[in-house]
Amino acid sequence: MRGWRIILILLALSAMPSTAALAVAPQVIVCIQCHAAQPGRLSKPVTLWQTSIHSDHGIACNACHGGDPMNAANSMSPASGFLGVPPPTSIPALCGGCHMGVTKHYMNSAHGIALGRGGPTCVTCHGSHAIVSASLALIDKKNCSSCHTFDKALMIRKAMVKTDRMLKAIEKRITVLKSQGIETDPLEMKLFSLRNRFHAMFHSLDVTLIRQESAHIQAEIEKTNGAGGVGTGHLVGVLAIGWALLAALLFSLIKKNID
Ligand code: HEC
Ligand code: HEC
Ligand code: HEC
Ligand code: HEC
Ligand code: HEC
Repeated sequence: MRGWRIILILLALSAMPSTAALAVAPQVIVCIQCHAAQPGRLSKPVTLWQTSIHSDHGIACNACHGGDPMNAANSMSPASGFLGVPPPTSIPALCGGCHMGVTKHYMNSAHGIALGRGGPTCVTCHGSHAIVSASLALIDKKNCSSCHTFDKALMIRKAMVKTDRMLKAIEKRITVLKSQGIETDPLEMKLFSLRNRFHAMFHSLDVTLIRQESAHIQAEIEKTNGAGGVGTGHLVGVLAIGWALLAALLFSLIKKNID
């Protein structure tokens, strides 16, 4: 799983010329060096960011705020592309530079349509620096009933729960198969695209679409579980045949030697 994720992330990043160069080691990023030493609201982003998935992937301050991360004297000059603090209405486009699928769903949703008029931006739900881990647990009363009732939010969560569980179960099984030395790459690739498609879908807020897509994804997972697919059953079968052949070969070699 990890391997494929990393390869696909690298591919995604390499398709983004302006962001490909952003993955710089944190210790040489002047924004972090200087901001960590500032008081209050200027250093808080550093502490929060250090705990984030963005930090793990080398997505640093300049990926969102612009500026030159290597040159302390000019790091925040307009000439170096410094953008300052992004206003709420430009946040989706900013995050969307990397999270394209999610942002497309969001822009077409009731939330995207209400952008600038009381709708939430990406950071209302995810935060801007700590980036709260994204899961269905984010859909709760606390996060989703400050602007409207919780009913519609709950309907969406209910439409997603079963598929979410199925995806988690198959991820777990892959880990087990892997620990047994079984080749799981084809299965992982398939799972990777299914899970990405699924987890972007929440942002559409479209219950009908979510139900339709969930049914499709569930069918794909069932296929994977059954015979004939690139499923684990199939892989185990191939492996068993492999071992049987190897055993037969060894046996005939030993037998020859004895003879
Ligand atoms: C030498 C120290 C130093 C460096 C290097 C530095 N900053 Fe700053 N930054 C500050 C100080 C001080 C402020 C507050 C005063 C100001 O706005 O100029 C600030 C303000 C900011 C703000 C808030 C602006 C606002 O309008 O509230 C952001 C965002 C920011 N910096 C991001 C960055 C980024 C991104 C980099 C690297 C590309 C960077 N900084 C490099 C010291 C620094
Ligand atoms: C994933 C995008 C992203 C990254 C990475 C990021 N920021 Fe921000 N930052 C934002 C957004 C969006 C806002 C405005 C909304 C908010 O304040 O939460 C913001 C706000 C700020 C502010 C203003 C805070 C305030 O209370 O006025 C500062 C200062 C800042 N960032 C500095 C940094 C520094 C330093 C780093 C690197 C350690 C960093 N940011 C990394 C997106 C980002
Ligand atoms: C320069 C590219 C880039 C930008 C800009 C960016 N991200 Fe990310 N983001 C990533 C990468 C890389 C990952 C880690 C790989 C992955 O899970 O897709 C990630 C992961 C995430 C996750 C997944 C967390 C999880 O639990 O899996 C969330 C949520 C997220 N980003 C939100 C945001 C928000 C909100 C913004 C804008 C304020 C933003 N990102 C801007 C590249 C970026
Ligand atoms: C900052 C305010 C705000 C927050 C927070 C918020 N929403 Fe909304 N939401 C809106 C607005 C504005 C609309 C459009 C008008 C309406 O339907 O009330 C909307 C509409 C919706 C709709 C209706 C979509 C449609 O097509 O009819 C759903 C579903 C929804 N939100 C789910 C959520 C969920 C789930 C959360 C929490 C994860 C959430 N909202 C958090 C502001 C918010
Ligand atoms: C109303 C709250 C809300 C808003 C607004 C929102 N998100 Fe999300 N986001 C969520 C929830 C809930 C999930 C988890 C969905 C799931 O588990 O399938 C999520 C998942 C994600 C993920 C993880 C997808 C994955 O593959 O695991 C990313 C990345 C992300 N959001 C980025 C964004 C960006 C970028 C924006 C703005 C364009 C945005 N989100 C706006 C609530 C929100």
